[in-house]
Amino acid sequence: MDPSSVIGEIRETIPFVDLHRMHAGISDSLESAFRSVLEESAFTLGKKAQGFEDAFGAYVGTTHAIGVGSGTDALHFALRACGVGSGDEVITAVNTFTATAEAILMAGATPVFVDVDERTLLMDLDAVEAALSPKTRAIIPVHLYGQPVDMTRVMSIARRAGVMVIEDACQAHGAYCGSARAGSLGDAGCFSFYPSKNLGALGDGGMVTTNDPAIAARIRLLRNHGEDASRLHVESGYCSRLHSLQAALLSEKLPHLEEWNAQRVRSADLYDTLLAPIGVTLPGRNQGVSHVFHLYVVRMENRDAARERLAAAGVQTAIHYAVPLHLEPAFAYLGYVRGDFPVAERAAASIVSLPMYPFMRDEEVGRVAAAVGEVLRD
Ligand SMILES: Cc1ncc(COP(=O)(O)O)c(C=O)c1O
Repeated sequence: MDPSSVIGEIRETIPFVDLHRMHAGISDSLESAFRSVLEESAFTLGKKAQGFEDAFGAYVGTTHAIGVGSGTDALHFALRACGVGSGDEVITAVNTFTATAEAILMAGATPVFVDVDERTLLMDLDAVEAALSPKTRAIIPVHLYGQPVDMTRVMSIARRAGVMVIEDACQAHGAYCGSARAGSLGDAGCFSFYPSKNLGALGDGGMVTTNDPAIAARIRLLRNHGEDASRLHVESGYCSRLHSLQAALLSEKLPHLEEWNAQRVRSADLYDTLLAPIGVTLPGRNQGVSHVFHLYVVRMENRDAARERLAAAGVQTAIHYAVPLHLEPAFAYLGYVRGDFPVAERAAASIVSLPMYPFMRDEEVGRVAAAVGEVLRD
């Protein structure tokens, strides 16, 4: 398809993310949720948080869902609740947001990075098998950009090795792996409700999903100063509760998530159609999973110059992630060097995330594709 057929007359800058359109359609219900929290005057946990936990657990398909302060804390607490601590190693992808590795450090353990698959940029599962050691206590598959890792294989690797699995589903709300949702297949699933996520709060928030009552109980302690139902502080915990206001707002948004994800997929399909003839490397899609396109990430030559020209043409872009974690200063102490993860290093130099959000108009997708085409032609 020729991009010009869907460009229309749009001239304004196309933002990388636009949350206004999503919120405009539900502003009345968000405002009434806000008023009801004011009236109830219970601002942390409470009925609103419980209501959202129940709804989100039912949506993901787990028997427990525990609201916490952020996706990072969800990962941190899930690791601790899975028995990870000092002296343990946790295997995860080198191409992920820094929080995945931060959470491992917060639990007192050591991140062991593995390279990613050239086509999907998801964790390379052969590399996971090769990285297992007697110290490995857990694996964190990251459902990067909204596409689930092959959880059947992850679980079989983990069960054979006797290690726990904590899914980083912070970018994959609603995605399916086979017939089960991301976040319901490992020992625990972790979600972020950072505002720009597929399901985002109007501030920070996070959730752990699990079918294991012992893991759920430990996370309930950790998030609230180690306090149990009798109000005794049975261990030293953290202050990381899901705020009632965020829970109330998220409860209003959750019923729209399927439609919003479908709109993302629709824009991704249109991007694929328009960009394929242009010579851009499209996002690799795996069979047997559903991708919810938190991000639409392509690869192109001369990426930095291309991004500058796209910005000049009124198309905002981003990079996820510009520096693979083993080359970030924060993780230098781990002793990795350039060349250790060639696929992720090559990808970091060529990936570009194009604008992606619900209610993106076809004309806007068309204009982005046309701008990319122009940049690559010259
Ligand atoms: C893959 C991944 N893991 C973890 C996190 C951390 O979530 P939060 O920012 O809510 O702490 C994020 C969110 O940015 C993420 O994208």
